[in-house]
Amino acid sequence: MTWFSKVFRRKAASSAPFNLHEQDNAAWKDRARIAADMVANLPLEGHRPVKLADIGCGDCKFAAEIGARMGEVLYRGFDLLPQSPEVQRYDISTEDLPESFDIAVLLGVLEYVEDVPAALERLRRSVRHLVVSHSVKDARPDPERSMRRLKWKTLMSEEEFSTALENAGFSIADRRLTANGKTVIWACR
Ligand SMILES: C[S@@+](CC[C@H](N)C(=O)[O-])C[C@H]1O[C@@H](n2cnc3c(N)ncnc32)[C@H](O)[C@@H]1O
Repeated sequence: MTWFSKVFRRKAASSAPFNLHEQDNAAWKDRARIAADMVANLPLEGHRPVKLADIGCGDCKFAAEIGARMGEVLYRGFDLLPQSPEVQRYDISTEDLPESFDIAVLLGVLEYVEDVPAALERLRRSVRHLVVSHSVKDARPDPERSMRRLKWKTLMSEEEFSTALENAGFSIADRRLTANGKTVIWACR
């Protein structure tokens, strides 16, 4: 457990930004493992080393997962609230990425973004592939209550999120569901 997790575990759930008091939870680790499997399965011939941007990287748990599966990866973490000096401060709601990447990964991030279509269009300009999760409305008996409790700004159905990806110019190549059945992860070109 990182110092950051310890600090947020002590806080009330309602006061921790972006639910970061939960970042050691099994569901978050499961999501990172599935996403790493999906990245490792992308057709990336000719991209060595692979330049990967982990946007909203949190404690960078994805870095360890992808490192265990792929040797040649240039990993860069970006986050609105960096947890270490290696992570670059970045706001996907307002900023373009500073350079282009072979892959961007966003896990548990777009629920906190108001204008998801605009964020996806911005990403499309800088990345060749995208692996992105969304905690889908379909799996929530009371979506409004979930949004209030988790302080989310966006909660889409699987179909709505797939359409937003395609409208932004991404082509969906793969789709997986997390073990708890609540989150879909898409791999796109
Ligand atoms: C639920 S956490 C997920 C962290 C990490 N991806 C993981 O799976 O463990 C959401 C992360 O997104 C970051 N975040 C929220 N809004 C953001 C924004 N507009 N731009 C960049 N990062 C953002 C938060 O600081 C937080 O680290």
